[in-house]
Amino acid sequence: MENNQNKIEIAANGPILVQGTIEIKHSDGRIEIKEKSCALCRCGHSANKPFCDGAHRKIDFKG
Ligand code: FES
Repeated sequence: MENNQNKIEIAANGPILVQGTIEIKHSDGRIEIKEKSCALCRCGHSANKPFCDGAHRKIDFKG
């Protein structure tokens, strides 16, 4: 199935890559719109959750 609007890719040993415009509702209720793309942390070590800040490289995340 081909959907050209929104895609999610799991990067090897890295973040969840989201393509497309998405609305993120944070745990405090704040709404944030991400246009085009964003990377979501999958390793749990980002200092800017839910977004990836590259920390997965420092901890040599595998997954
Ligand atoms: S996946 Fe990149 S900081 Fe967690």
